[in-house]
Amino acid sequence: MKGHLSVTVRAPAKINLLLGVGPVREDGYHPLDTVYQAISLYDDVTVSTSVAWSVNVEAIGDLDVSGVPLDESNIAIRAGALLAAHHGISRRATIGISKGIPVAGGMAGGSADAAATLVALDRLWDLQTSDDDLLEIAAELGSDVPFALIGGSAHGTGHGELVEPVTDDGTWWWVVVPDAAGMSTPEVYRAFDAHGSGGTGTEAVRTALAGGDLDALGAALHNDLQDAALKLRADLRRTEADLAGAGVLATLLSGSGPTFLGLVEDQDCAHQVREALLAAEHPGVLVATGPVAGAHVVTYV
Ligand code: C5P
Repeated sequence: MKGHLSVTVRAPAKINLLLGVGPVREDGYHPLDTVYQAISLYDDVTVSTSVAWSVNVEAIGDLDVSGVPLDESNIAIRAGALLAAHHGISRRATIGISKGIPVAGGMAGGSADAAATLVALDRLWDLQTSDDDLLEIAAELGSDVPFALIGGSAHGTGHGELVEPVTDDGTWWWVVVPDAAGMSTPEVYRAFDAHGSGGTGTEAVRTALAGGDLDALGAALHNDLQDAALKLRADLRRTEADLAGAGVLATLLSGSGPTFLGLVEDQDCAHQVREALLAAEHPGVLVATGPVAGAHVVTYV
């Protein structure tokens, strides 16, 4: 069979509906007890075989992609190299990323690119990597990469890399407020170590998801990193207040920030809140729904 010339895979952004963080481990990671949800902001990754690794990035809409590295430190190239090494082959590829997930926003955009690259190259090179092996390679690339493979809603443990799907009976609507200045995840964890303590359980969120109960989900949303992130970036309190003032059911910092999320009742409310936030000078506000699928092939030629 003749192989494909190029393969495009779409991978979603993630949010953490509940992010419980324990005290730092000896390996520098923090134990997590989290509930992930994949939401409808996507990066599309297109791969084609080439003599050398390369990556290029184009923005969807007015997203700022200037922070994405274009050399071999890019996580998509690292993903491709790791997949090739796993199979003992020395193939390379050109990787094109069409980016709809805010960069350095606490929404795992880089992890989405890594997951999408794994799935795309697996198909391009007809490697037929097992799901277990893909999840293991993903975990080596980053804490959030395994979740980007499976999508949906999932319970995450370990340092985030161990994922189990959870029942989610809802269609949830989110207003996503990105911030112009990205935040460093390690820095937020360090601020958490200095000031914080966490350990909130995931039970209430999982019950709310299983029952499709909007009020219960709104009441259960929680992020142990939020106080630490707000200590580093007090200006984000205004974003949180603007969201609350626009009538959302609940607000939540996404992962390690700086993106803020508002949970709303339905799609119409989401667009109303988005308009209010744009009027309050928060550019680039997005509307998203979840849960959505993990990394999946959209086209191949
Ligand atoms: O796994 P990933 O590369 O995404 O993590 C980036 C950094 O975030 C880690 O090097 C670590 O400093 C911090 N981190 C952590 N605990 C986690 C996940 C990430 O301390 N559970």
